[in-house]
Amino acid sequence: MCGIVGYIGEKNATPIILGGLKKLEYRGYDSAGIAVIEEGNIELRRDVGKLVNLEKLVEQQPLSGKIGIGHTRWATHGAPSAKNAHPHIGETGDVVIVHNGIVENYLELKEELEAEGAHFNSETDTETIVHLIERNLGSGVSLEKAVRLSLQRIKGAHGIVVISSKEPDKIIAARIGNAGGVVIGYGEGEMFVASDIPAILEYTRRMSFLESQQMAVVTRENATITTLDGKAVPAKIDTIAWDPVAAVKGNYRHFMQKEIHEQARSLIDTLTGRVDFENNRINLMNLNLDAEKARKFNKVIITACGTAYHAGLVGKTMIETIARIPTEVDIASEFRYRDPLVDENTCVLTISQSGETADTLAAMEEARNKKAMVFSIVNAIGSQAMRVADGYISMQVGPEIGVASTKAFTAPLVDLYLFAIYLADLRGTLSEEERYRSIYDLRVIPDLAGKCLKREDAVREVAEKIKDIHNILYLGRGINMPIAYEGALKLKEISYIHAEAYPAGEMKHGPIALIDQDMPVLAIMPKDQWYEKMLSQVEQAKARGGILILVATDGDERAGELGDDVLWIPEAPWMLTPVFATIPLQMLAYHIAAIRGLDVDQPRNLAKSVTVE
Ligand code: M6R
Repeated sequence: MCGIVGYIGEKNATPIILGGLKKLEYRGYDSAGIAVIEEGNIELRRDVGKLVNLEKLVEQQPLSGKIGIGHTRWATHGAPSAKNAHPHIGETGDVVIVHNGIVENYLELKEELEAEGAHFNSETDTETIVHLIERNLGSGVSLEKAVRLSLQRIKGAHGIVVISSKEPDKIIAARIGNAGGVVIGYGEGEMFVASDIPAILEYTRRMSFLESQQMAVVTRENATITTLDGKAVPAKIDTIAWDPVAAVKGNYRHFMQKEIHEQARSLIDTLTGRVDFENNRINLMNLNLDAEKARKFNKVIITACGTAYHAGLVGKTMIETIARIPTEVDIASEFRYRDPLVDENTCVLTISQSGETADTLAAMEEARNKKAMVFSIVNAIGSQAMRVADGYISMQVGPEIGVASTKAFTAPLVDLYLFAIYLADLRGTLSEEERYRSIYDLRVIPDLAGKCLKREDAVREVAEKIKDIHNILYLGRGINMPIAYEGALKLKEISYIHAEAYPAGEMKHGPIALIDQDMPVLAIMPKDQWYEKMLSQVEQAKARGGILILVATDGDERAGELGDDVLWIPEAPWMLTPVFATIPLQMLAYHIAAIRGLDVDQPRNLAKSVTVE
């Protein structure tokens, strides 16, 4: 959840590290810190709160050096405070570390270290690591060896980066398990380390990704990668195609607003190279799936968390409708512990924007242990969910910085639709005509997404009217039922308004008791096969005095009469309506939060990449 940046080269490390942390602040933002080696000594600055506080501190108490590390924190052990912020420096003042993850046996280690005379300055689990390293250094071994020995003692999943004033020509970085990525960036006479690509993309596109149980010794010139037990690993350097400008806010007030608008582009990119409109074929080459494997599947299980899980729920309808394969959808934190019925004929498909979500990765591992074929739909290139899968679909939306996921929700909706066609085609269950129709429908996506985005002013007006509500009920049916969940999640995570979502047919079984003039109802009712049913549920809500906000298809007169407000969406093929129904709900959540003056991009308590359980 935390962000890590390290630099070694000939430039001043401070602005590079602070700039990198700024790009990672979405990963965690309760405190931040930086350490550089200045004239042979470690200089440390840390502060509670957002990165801006650290920046001010650094302005007042400047520090500069050619090697350094920085961190932005999302607290797990120990409250957000300056003393609990990373980097953590040891008692000798020679070693300093930043860490992502949880030292599961830290109490036991702390007791052991204290018994030997160590003094702890923070309430964090991380501090045990720096004491362990110092203890090992005390026996005369190199920094590299001391880190290796220390990592053997700690339990749990970790990403760590270490520097020492005694060996100022190197950064040591390591990854154990799934506590977020560790990326090594290759420059000219300078090298970078980070927990995520955007932090260093401004400087280099050449990057290596550490696997679990790997360690890198990074000098100005190169990186030597080994396993934790010392075996050499050849570095595989990837060239990252992401545009660094994509990670900059531009003229938009918030990243979330920018990313909502980027959907016109990201949805084109989602189709590009995968859909052959001339020959009516889908090609998902990175899935590594052939007809023989695809024919073996007896079911599909989609597993993911949060917004990605909602995309999976839409995918279920798509896969069952197009490919006619039974499809289950499960929350990853449930799947991993429920001893799921999975075997070598099960296709387990995970969806993750970050590709580093701990529960999702554990679900993949569980599926793998049960011999299932494991696939992923992932945005972050080189992330663990991409690497450990048998095959993947890359989202192609570029970096998503706003904590509330937007473009990384609509892209997988389309990816799932492509996946369903591809699977059906490989299994030989799709007629020529069905394939033609399903692929033909894809043509409208960019245009219709653009139309939805142009209606932002109308959405803002609705936001203005309802900005002070305390509760709201979202309803949907069929393929748009998950869009009710997603709309409600978007609103609650950035505006802190209590929003509940229900399959509309369930309303009469309980939630209807809540409806009165203080409980607006937002109902998603495009003109599809569930329309008449939605209409009667909306009438029921209206009869109880509920204020109605409807998401309805252009020209729907009944919706116009019933709704206190209507968020209009263009007519679209029914299986693709979730893409277009989502956009006004993203904009509504965004504008309510922005009007309320909230921190849209970095809402309280959340983090972009949830690398702990
Ligand atoms: O990186 P992932 O897609 O695996 O993340 C899953 C959830 O943590 C994420 O979707 C979360 O719900 C977002 N804050 C939603 O906006």
